[in-house]
Amino acid sequence: MLVPTVAVDTHPVVLAYNAFQVVGIAGSYFSESKNPMPYSKFAVSSKKNDDGTSTTKKMVPSRMGMLIIYVPATIVALAVQWFLLPLIKDSTPTVAGWLVFAHFVKRDLEVLCLHKYSGSTELDAARMIAFVYALTALMICFVSTPTTELASREVYSGVSLFVVGSLGNLYHHYLLAKLRSDSVRKYVAPKGGLFQFVAAPHYLFELIAWLGIAVASHQLTGYLNLLSMTMYLSARSQNQNNWNKNKFSEKEWPASRKNMVPFVY
Ligand SMILES: NC(=O)c1ccc[n+]([C@@H]2O[C@H](COP(=O)([O-])OP(=O)(O)OC[C@H]3O[C@@H](n4cnc5c(N)ncnc54)[C@H](OP(=O)(O)O)[C@@H]3O)[C@@H](O)[C@H]2O)c1
Repeated sequence: MLVPTVAVDTHPVVLAYNAFQVVGIAGSYFSESKNPMPYSKFAVSSKKNDDGTSTTKKMVPSRMGMLIIYVPATIVALAVQWFLLPLIKDSTPTVAGWLVFAHFVKRDLEVLCLHKYSGSTELDAARMIAFVYALTALMICFVSTPTTELASREVYSGVSLFVVGSLGNLYHHYLLAKLRSDSVRKYVAPKGGLFQFVAAPHYLFELIAWLGIAVASHQLTGYLNLLSMTMYLSARSQNQNNWNKNKFSEKEWPASRKNMVPFVY
């Protein structure tokens, strides 16, 4: 059985980043529950202020918003793996770093070739998420334990979890894309795969992939990242489920359907 072990990098920059992650863990669930991140079906182009006036937000089409979100992290992961690790730390690229790079390449390709977007993304939100992802990629690539120092079961279980999570995530993205034709971009009750049980199976599989990265990283930073994403995606999956319940009939989307984990949550 896999019993993950965790190392703690005590460099002050890493410890400061870990503190930032802990704040993210505490805040992300409540912040997403209260104010859903403004992209796709939750995008809002204008916000009401306390004094009754409203602020118009700069929006970009979803495909562009998603590229703004994912491309910087892809470049950062590649740069750290290829140039910076040998240059600054005199160490070789890590398996966790390559998994992070693969994750963001997959995202970029899905944005370009698979998803059929209908909406828009708030530009400021896209920039903020891009910064957080780029920082995540930077830190995980930098702190991950060198592959040669890992037990082989950690490498194999990390990579296996990543592959299962990524394929499950990709499959459910494919099911979502199949709901729409190229010309008609309306919302339809998701079906097939684990959509029979939960509103956001793609989130569940994404978390399995990040668990794989955490195992392969062997570092506290990887596990704190997993926790923070779990909190955020738990709240987002609840928003997705509530949105579906409001949008679709009881027959199309039963009220008993869970958010993210079949039969549990
Ligand atoms: N690691 C993290 O913290 C994190 C955070 C957020 C997202 N993600 C990952 O990013 C991926 C995408 O997330 P997301 O929140 O953008 O997913 P999403 O809201 O489910 O959207 C994914 C795609 O499916 C379309 N879609 C959604 N519901 C639909 C429906 N009922 N009918 C037809 N089309 C529908 C969306 O179109 P529209 O754009 O037109 O709505 C979009 O093209 C997920 O795998 C997720 O795990 C990760």
